[in-house]
Amino acid sequence: MVKIFKNKSAISEDFDDEVLGDLMSLRQYPKLLASIPRLTSYYKAMAEKSERYKKNSLVTKIIQVKDSAEVTKLLAEMDAMKYNPALYSLYTKQLRQIKTAEELVLMRKTIEISALAHREAMKAIKPDMSELELQGVQEFIHKKLGAEYVGYPSIAGAGANGCVLHYIENNATSIGNNKMILMDIGAEYHGYSADITRTFPSNGKFTPEQKQIYDIVIDAQEAVFKICKEGTSFEEIEKAARDVVAKGLVKLGILKDESESRTYFPHGCSHFLGLDVHDKGIYDKLLENMIVTVEPGIYIPEGSKCDKKWWGIAVRVEDDVLIKKDKLEILSSSAPRKTEDVEKVAAQKSFVDNLSADLKK
Ligand code: GLY
Ligand code: MN
Ligand code: MN
Repeated sequence: MVKIFKNKSAISEDFDDEVLGDLMSLRQYPKLLASIPRLTSYYKAMAEKSERYKKNSLVTKIIQVKDSAEVTKLLAEMDAMKYNPALYSLYTKQLRQIKTAEELVLMRKTIEISALAHREAMKAIKPDMSELELQGVQEFIHKKLGAEYVGYPSIAGAGANGCVLHYIENNATSIGNNKMILMDIGAEYHGYSADITRTFPSNGKFTPEQKQIYDIVIDAQEAVFKICKEGTSFEEIEKAARDVVAKGLVKLGILKDESESRTYFPHGCSHFLGLDVHDKGIYDKLLENMIVTVEPGIYIPEGSKCDKKWWGIAVRVEDDVLIKKDKLEILSSSAPRKTEDVEKVAAQKSFVDNLSADLKK
């Protein structure tokens, strides 16, 4: 993969992160660079200790530098080899935002594993289960299907805990009756991360209030799905999602004015996904073979300025989508999304049912 990246970016084969890291920090300290004896002695010492430094042609040159004119020449040479830290960040974004065919295989795999884990959690959920227990069900499925890690700390927030955006304590001992749980859990497979959120009811059926909020979130997602293709901007995505949420909340009387939507939808809708859960990329227009999340949410904490019946409802639905020339592909569709599909899957038997009975014996 590193070789593919290097070819794709035309970065020199001699580009070595370990060596580059030191050069980058040196470039940030011009005084140190100017102090030639220190520079050469540092690299001499490193070359003696490490084969990696010794073999690197740039290190050989640094060791031989004699005056500041030669340092300037060397810096220009580094720029030509793309050893420039300012450009490095741009190259990294350009490389990572467009997935290669090989990366797409890994992304499809990690997202499918994560989607199946959400599906199993929907089947397993019971009101007396703990947040940790349900998190465990998902992470077990990751491991069962070969994913080595989670892509980020798992979020399993029952009821109002779902309103806490980066809730990772996951320590409520029971989800409770007629509550929903917000599960933002993604696997990491061979270095690549999924990022999926599903919110589902503890007894397998949404209450009318839960369903009304949930459906606004689904409508917001669908407004985004409709416009996702090459050329759409992140700004347009954010606007499409926010408009639907704002209108929906005003219609239910939860908000007085659409301009207040941040009260209950306080985060962005989409980010790049890949080697990192919030992957590097340029937040401008979508391009073919980008993978981004679509994750609108509505969070109504206890004590909010609206009818009490909405308090404690938190819904986020997050899917991972592949951008194509004239449409998108939802890669996380194995995780049920619409209320009727969630309820159908929740009614199915779970492998945890037997386990719970066996453990009680
Ligand atoms: N799981 C982090 C996020 O959704 O951005
Ligand atoms: Mn996300
Ligand atoms: Mn997420």
